[in-house]
Amino acid sequence: MQLSSPDINFEQLVEHIANQGYCVIDNFLDHTVIGALASETEALKLANAMTQAGVGREQLAINKSIRGDSIYWLDENNATAAQKIYLQQMDRLRSSLNQHLYLGLFGLECHLAAYPAGTFYKKHLDRFASNEPNQSQRQSQRKISCIVYLNKSWKNEDGGQLRFYLNETDEYSNEKSIDILPIAGRAVIFLSDTFYHEVLPANRERISLTGWFFTRQLN
Ligand code: OGA
Ligand code: MN
Repeated sequence: MQLSSPDINFEQLVEHIANQGYCVIDNFLDHTVIGALASETEALKLANAMTQAGVGREQLAINKSIRGDSIYWLDENNATAAQKIYLQQMDRLRSSLNQHLYLGLFGLECHLAAYPAGTFYKKHLDRFASNEPNQSQRQSQRKISCIVYLNKSWKNEDGGQLRFYLNETDEYSNEKSIDILPIAGRAVIFLSDTFYHEVLPANRERISLTGWFFTRQLN
């Protein structure tokens, strides 16, 4: 299998993030790579290697009334061919972000996620303000979120949209939002501490690969 990455105009992507704080881009990864990542997610699920999100590494007590997905953290040292391609693409993204926005991003943590039909993830921010009590240091360092969707032939009626709120950091303003369909190869990249978002329930299983770039120090 020949695996490669599409050529992405990273400068334009970074410009979008600089101007509006987020960017939606299709074909972030080649469809062969997306297909491989989707198969790997299914295999991990069958092998019981996916765990209910919100426990363990995230050190947050989250239950199924908040989020219903199961996740698998990628291990850079034990990555499959498709995961390596993803990690390379994310490395390019990180370089561009650092070059143009001086974000000082240095690490990436990422997980595959599977939402069974009917599950969701309630409205949240990926990174809380650093003065918020009880947040793990790791989470308060998250700077950029990047979600890549792995769902083949996803349709409007399948639901599962990412509802993305455009009123920055205002939790209670429901007015301005966009709904993004989680179609294969699409990536949504945004400032982790700025945009509230939620996953609407889907009528079929919904899979994705989510990554966060973080900085070394709290700020
Ligand atoms: C998350 C998240 C959104 C999505 O994992 O924090 O918000 O569309 N995911 O999968
Ligand atoms: Mn999130």
